[in-house]
Amino acid sequence: MSFVNGNEIFTAARKGHYAVGAFNTNNLEWTRAILKGAQETKTPVLIQVSMGAAKYMGDYKLVKNLVENEMRVMNITVPVIMHLDHGNYEAAKECIEAGYTSVMFDGHDLPFAENLEKTKEIVKLAHAKNISVEAEVGSIGGTEDGIVGLGELADVEEAKKMAATGVDYLACGIGNIHGKYPANWKGLSFDRLKELADAIDTPLVLHGGSGIPKEQVVKAISMGISKVNINTECQLSFAAATRKYIEAGKDQQGKGYDPRKLLADGTQAITDTVEEIIGWLGTPAVK
Ligand code: 13P
Repeated sequence: MSFVNGNEIFTAARKGHYAVGAFNTNNLEWTRAILKGAQETKTPVLIQVSMGAAKYMGDYKLVKNLVENEMRVMNITVPVIMHLDHGNYEAAKECIEAGYTSVMFDGHDLPFAENLEKTKEIVKLAHAKNISVEAEVGSIGGTEDGIVGLGELADVEEAKKMAATGVDYLACGIGNIHGKYPANWKGLSFDRLKELADAIDTPLVLHGGSGIPKEQVVKAISMGISKVNINTECQLSFAAATRKYIEAGKDQQGKGYDPRKLLADGTQAITDTVEEIIGWLGTPAVK
């Protein structure tokens, strides 16, 4: 199956009060692990790459070709959306040209009027090619690939203006943070989420999905969150399984140092995490 855009998938999720997982890829193992999790659960999936991860792997085209070719050799039959995560203006344009089926333009660090104008331009370029667009209002806390957000709550009037640009999904700060949550984290702001969800029909995106207690994720989905972004959780499970393998001395037994063996437990741990999270989201299996 070739890539699909996110329009129908996330609109149906918002209407049906469930969410679809958006998992960050970092390399070949991540890509295979995410695709395996989606195929085994028979659910659609969004594979996303940050600007930093794309630079690490090569470029946007390489990432798209990697995902596409893994889908081919793995006989993936579930719908897959190829998405740019937290792109700046140039990156969004590059991914539109490179054949991504969805891009995020993250203008949260710009004055709002400029974020709005640039989002409009990206929407125009992307929609002409049937590509979905995600935008952001109210920065998401924490640091991701050098993008630092303060974690403010999204302003409802700004969210309405952003939704009016025709974006297909909207990331909005509701107290969420990228990376590990600090012990004194106050939790998601369901009051703000309700105000946002009452004001706009656009599918809403929860960034920083890793480490939020399951009950809060499930409640947020019931209120209008349709896309849940996960990166750190997969990194932690990969690292823990790889550490276990090495601490058990398995890399020193036989050819246990072969990367195809050394990375196997960690890769399976990513798939297990992907499948567990998909179970939280309530994504219906494709027919
Ligand atoms: P986490 O790394 O906190 O899961 O956040 C992922 C994310 O929001 C990607 O945009």
